[in-house]
Amino acid sequence: MKPQISPSVLSADFSKLGEQIASVAGNGGEVLHLDVMDGHYVPNLTFGPLLVKAMRKMTDMILEAHLMISDPDQYIENFVKAGADIVLVHPSTCASVRDTLRNIKSLGAKAGLVVNPGEKLSIVAPYLAEMDQLLIMSVVPGFGGQSFMPEVLNDLPELRPSLQKNNVLVEIDGGINQSTIGLVLDKGINRFVAGSAVFNKDASPGVNFNTLQTLAATGK
Ligand code: DX5
Ligand code: ZN
Repeated sequence: MKPQISPSVLSADFSKLGEQIASVAGNGGEVLHLDVMDGHYVPNLTFGPLLVKAMRKMTDMILEAHLMISDPDQYIENFVKAGADIVLVHPSTCASVRDTLRNIKSLGAKAGLVVNPGEKLSIVAPYLAEMDQLLIMSVVPGFGGQSFMPEVLNDLPELRPSLQKNNVLVEIDGGINQSTIGLVLDKGINRFVAGSAVFNKDASPGVNFNTLQTLAATGK
């Protein structure tokens, strides 16, 4: 598959969210990354299913919900009913990782696991057959605009063959911008989350998206 940029609305201007999403979609954006934070698992608060439902009405783009919340099992059904196409959870927040993945899939969404900096990528190894997606955090989750941590990719080569064998899409999240995206190309990563590099004052979200998409596709 061709590399995809997945803009994170965390850095969007929510007073004109529809317009900002349309700007990305109008430039070929296919996926939107929704950072859900509960002020408990991470020290920041964002939004819940209510806003996912509103965004579902704004766009046909694929909506991926990155749940940075304690006890995600309690809310997964609400997020899928609100329109999330993909649900990504942190293993340490699940009572049973396998049950959570199965639950997401039984609701008709795609399921993925998220690995934080400092956690080994191999923690997802037992679940590869049940995962659609792996999200590698390249910043400590909680805030947009942090610096990319290259060391999170150290153990990717080791896991890469089993990821490929199980058809698991690999995504990276945090600190991806025009200067850092070159560091993560050609490493088996399919999707690149970008928040502050897409939603900023330099240019429209669509233009920023396009610049990153071109860099991801061509390396220049
Ligand atoms: C961090 C979030 C990221 C964040 C990325 O907790 O998971 O998705 O929005 O923002 P940037 O691209 O600004 O690092
Ligand atoms: Zn995220």
